Amino acid sequence: MMSKRIFISGASSGIGEFLAYAYAKLGATLGLSARRIDRLEVIAKACREFGGETHIYQSDAKDRVATKNAADNFISNVGGIDIVIANAGIGNHDDIIQGDATVINDILETNIIGVTNTLVPFIPTMKKQKHGILVPVSSVASFLAVPYHGGYSASKIAIRVMADSWRLTLHKYNIQITTICPGFIETPMTAEQKRRPFLMPVETAVEKIVSAIDRGKKTFVFPWQMKVLIPVLKIIPDGLLRMFG
Ligand SMILES: NC(=O)c1ccc[n+]([C@@H]2O[C@H](COP(=O)([O-])OP(=O)(O)OC[C@H]3O[C@@H](n4cnc5c(N)ncnc54)[C@H](OP(=O)(O)O)[C@@H]3O)[C@@H](O)[C@H]2O)c1
Repeated sequence: MMSKRIFISGASSGIGEFLAYAYAKLGATLGLSARRIDRLEVIAKACREFGGETHIYQSDAKDRVATKNAADNFISNVGGIDIVIANAGIGNHDDIIQGDATVINDILETNIIGVTNTLVPFIPTMKKQKHGILVPVSSVASFLAVPYHGGYSASKIAIRVMADSWRLTLHKYNIQITTICPGFIETPMTAEQKRRPFLMPVETAVEKIVSAIDRGKKTFVFPWQMKVLIPVLKIIPDGLLRMFG
């Protein structure tokens, strides 16, 4: 059987990096993108050693032209596409107190426009092939309003709901949409955070993500403790929620 052709954005660290290793070990043909090309080169070398043909692309997810060029180049190099994982994202504080929208706008742009820029260019090829899997990486934060992280929560809700709509739109072309909603995963993004309940090692998280995609899950929320807590957190008073700031 032909090896799976998988494109992963934000593959220069954390979840994206370890997804690349996991799929390389399964013999996939990989397209890896991020801004830090030096990191991608090191990761691509490891992936090739694990057995996966690997192409790298330096691109900012916010740049529609650069992301489209990367998608076109990957498709023409490997002859099609099986899975696209829009994983690139940032998780900073909103920084709204000083009255400057620069930081929150960057979060919204990276985590929403960055996802549409990454996934949409692959859709015509998937439609033609009559198969493909789109994987937006959302978050448990898409189910709650996390204090100081309004931009982050909003961005992750936006892509989760967009994916729910796309699933209905693209069903007739046999395009699967699996939205990933992790809780706290041990990566550079969460390294500085004081409270990380139910923290999961990145290797375990990646195993679960690969399995959820394989099983055709619509929305995969994990770890299970977070999934159980979401309805509870929705009814707790603001005073308690402020403690998560
Ligand atoms: N860790 C968690 O607990 C957790 C929980 C829920 C959801 N998530 C989501 O999982 C995804 C991966 O997070 P992570 O924890 O692995 O974080 P990470 O280690 O900080 O990795 C983030 C990745 O995104 C890339 N990236 C950021 N901005 C980019 C841009 N403008 N253009 C292209 N690439 C960009 C980074 O690459 P460059 O800097 O090289 O561009 C890096 O490869 C994110 O979407 C995050 O929101 C993480």
